[in-house]
Amino acid sequence: MKLKVGITYNLKKDFKHRDDQPIDALEEFDAEETIDAIRQVLESDGHEVFKLGGGVGLIERLRTTPLDIVFNIAEGVGGRNREAHIPALLEFLNIPYTGSDPLTLALTLDKAMAKRVVRSEGVPTPGFKKVERMEDLNNLGLRYPLFVKLCYEGSSKGVRLDSKISDPTTLNKKVKWLLETYGPPVLVEEFVSGPEFTVGILGNSEPIVLGVMQIEVKGSPPDEAIYSLEVKREWEEKVRYHCPPPISNHLLKEIEAVAMKAYRALDCRDVSRVDIRIGKDGIPYFLEINPLPGLSPVYGDLPIMAGRMGWEYNRLVKTIFHHALERYGMAG
Ligand SMILES: Nc1ncnc2c1ncn2[C@@H]1O[C@H](COP(=O)(O)OP(=O)(O)OP(=O)(O)O)[C@@H](O)[C@H]1O
Ligand SMILES: [Mg+2]
Repeated sequence: MKLKVGITYNLKKDFKHRDDQPIDALEEFDAEETIDAIRQVLESDGHEVFKLGGGVGLIERLRTTPLDIVFNIAEGVGGRNREAHIPALLEFLNIPYTGSDPLTLALTLDKAMAKRVVRSEGVPTPGFKKVERMEDLNNLGLRYPLFVKLCYEGSSKGVRLDSKISDPTTLNKKVKWLLETYGPPVLVEEFVSGPEFTVGILGNSEPIVLGVMQIEVKGSPPDEAIYSLEVKREWEEKVRYHCPPPISNHLLKEIEAVAMKAYRALDCRDVSRVDIRIGKDGIPYFLEINPLPGLSPVYGDLPIMAGRMGWEYNRLVKTIFHHALERYGMAG
């Protein structure tokens, strides 16, 4: 069936980086190549595709473009609800769209909130404190080493090679820097020192694990490895991806179970990528979940994982789209 499909997104090139902004201010936004790659897949499937963008002009475009469904990858601008803005607008206008709904997108972007919800469902996640101001660091009640990051960000914005913290003096310095550079809130978490994995999940009533990919930061032992901004930007030199990972079947199943439990606890739809690290106790800990995982065919973790699992990019995008169509009873 030929459908009219809009794509919503925020392009890096539509924003201007100001000198007073941190170096990674635009890190979450997409490259035009990614939108065109998605467009090509949808067109090759026979659909008519409209590139709609994600700025205020979108509101008018949604009202004037006849659409059957939207493929949404818009990160939004500012605050913990930014990823929910466009899906909320689409719901308001009664336009179907791919991916999770506004509640899930906002809940998962706030890492502290997501951790509370998954923990309440029995998913292991490191101890944490949400820090709005320096005084919140008093009586922390967390065990060093710690890890500091921004509470509402992705793409390792604010995460650097020195985000692992060993003592209170460094903690004060680093939190102060994050609060001053990016603004509150900051998430202070216990550091999980084992190997890192990211898990791709697809589907709805019976979601499947697309793959589990181990992320090895070259030259760093696991307890020093951080998938930081520096590492993500130079992934070709600095990262080795292992998918499927060289681990026991038992651990693989445990990682998959934690990821799946988080996906269900947070009511994710169609697709997500879950980040997990193994603790000293051998337990897989939930770090965070990404219901809008990057879909760059070149450097997106999910497309890389899909490739390693024998899925071409086309199949990944079509499957996400198909899950959305199915939810709305539109799959032909
Ligand atoms: N508690 C922790 N213990 C150990 N390492 C951590 C912890 N939290 C984060 N990290 C490291 O920092 C990286 C970035 O953290 P996280 O995945 O939470 O941020 P993000 O910016 O949302 O990532 P994404 O690019 O997946 O959106 C992780 O991939 C991991 O290497
Ligand atoms: Mg992550």
